[in-house]
Formats: sequence, C-alpha cells, structure tokens
Amino acid sequence: MPPSGTGPQVVYLIGHPVGHSLSPAMQNAAFLACGLAHRYEPRDVDPADLEAAVGSLRADGVLGANVTVPHKERILGLLDAVAGDALRIGAVNTIVREGTELLGENTDRGGFEAALRDARVDVAGKRVLVLGAGGAARAIVIALAASGARVAVANRTPDRARRLAEAFGVGAVAWPDESALAVDVVVNATSAGLYGEDPLAGMALPAGTAVVDIVPTAAETPLARRAREAGNTVVDGLLMLLHQAAASFRLWTGQDAPLEAMRAALPRVV
Ligand code: ATR
Repeated sequence: MPPSGTGPQVVYLIGHPVGHSLSPAMQNAAFLACGLAHRYEPRDVDPADLEAAVGSLRADGVLGANVTVPHKERILGLLDAVAGDALRIGAVNTIVREGTELLGENTDRGGFEAALRDARVDVAGKRVLVLGAGGAARAIVIALAASGARVAVANRTPDRARRLAEAFGVGAVAWPDESALAVDVVVNATSAGLYGEDPLAGMALPAGTAVVDIVPTAAETPLARRAREAGNTVVDGLLMLLHQAAASFRLWTGQDAPLEAMRAALPRVV
C-alpha cells in the first residue's frame, strides 16, 4: 500500500443539493489530464449531518473537499484552521486535509480576479457597481478594492449592502434604477439567474458598461445573454467557476491546474 497521501484519493463536493454541479466534470478532467488517479465526487449532505461529514474528511483516503450552499458559512466553525481571505469573507468553499487537520480556504476572490484577467477586463480606477451582499459579494468587493476600483454595492435588502460597505470601506447605493447602471462595470454577485431570473429585468444596459455575471449556469443567464446580444463586454459565470476550480485544484495537488482540459469540460465555450 502506498504511504498515506501518495495514492489515489477522493475529493468530495459537500452541498445540499449537489446534483446540478458542473465541478465533477471539470475536476475529473483535470485529474485525468495530469495523470492523477484521484476522483471528485458530489456528496449530498443534509445540514443535520454536516458535523459527521466533516469528521469523515479527516481520513487518509481524502485529499480535500469543495463546499457549497448551504454549508459555506457554518463549516468555518468545524475546521482546524481557516485562511485569512476565507475568514474575511466569512465563507469556506475549499478544504485541504493535512494529516488529520482540515484547513478552510476560499477561492472566490482569486477566481474572480483570474476571470477578469482571462476576459481582459481591467477594473483599476473604474466605477464598479456590485449587486448582492452575500459571501460571493464580499469576496468580490475585497478583490475590487484591492485592484483600485471605485466600488459601490447595492442589494435588494439595503441594510445588508450598508453593512458590507462599512465593513470593507466601499460605497453603498440604493438598488439601481436604469440610470445607476451607467458605470464602467456591473457585477451580478447575487444568486439571481440560477433559475432563469434577471436581477435587472426591465432595465436597459448602457452601451459602454461591461457586465460580469458570476452565476455559473449550464445555460447562459438571461442577463449575460441580453448583454452579449446588445454588444456589451460580458464575463460569464462559468469563467469564474473555471478559475475557482483551478485554484482549488492547486490547493489540493500543489500543481498548476490544466486549465484548458478543465475549460473543455464546461458545457459552453467561455
Ligand atoms: P452567496 O453567499 O452565494 O453570495 P447569499 O449569502 O445567499 O449567497 O446571498 C445571495 C444574494 O443574492 C443576496 O444579496 C440576495 O439579496 P438579499 O440580501 O436581499 O436576500 C441576492 N438575491 C437573491 N435572489 C435575488 C433576486 N431575485 N434579486 C435580487 N437579489 C437577489
């Protein structure tokens, strides 16, 4: 038997539900491309079973995990250590096992930054409106503020936007009307779009505004589609998902991710 940590291991995706996830196809393609015999498996974990599921990640055959809705916040308290960005964001989406210890990380910030680079969208000095005030929005605000963007946050529930803005030293504005979309970049960091909703329904997008939609869906979201059809620059949610996945792969394996093999495993070209 190989010593612990050197043989084929499993990476779990822990969420509820997990059936729709695009991550297994990407991560298994990455392991294959790198000649690694590891495998990536979705595992539906009811909230009542989260503690036991986290305990089972400490076993030798486990390389690590991804964590998704609804466990990303609660899981912080069940790990041995949490990296700085994940602490600031208040959410963990990647777990790395080191011996019997579990380290929590968050790849949202790095994934967002890499997706912008990949799409050649430069936010330095630009006016950026971020929609949403959940964990994803927090990661994105951290990334944007560090890139020198002029950031304002808007949320359907305004109080959450105000609190996020205060915590990270950016602006908060009311949920936008059409005129408020006349900025350089609008980021949809809400979950609206997952089931075909358009968070800006009924509002035209100004010609020069780039749209970053982080909702990762097999079919293009209504917001991304109409922005693309109108000729706006669009950064698709699948592109952020790809770069988040690449960052997780690096954390588990210590190797650079085979980005093109992972990209080819996505349901659309991004
Ligand atoms: P995550 O951690 O993935 O960001 P979350 O914490 O549940 O998820 O946050 C979801 C975000 O999407 C919130 O900002 C939510 O707005 P509320 O704070 O008002 O709930 C936003 N959201 C979800 N559905 C929306 C919709 N149909 N229109 C606008 N915003 C929506």
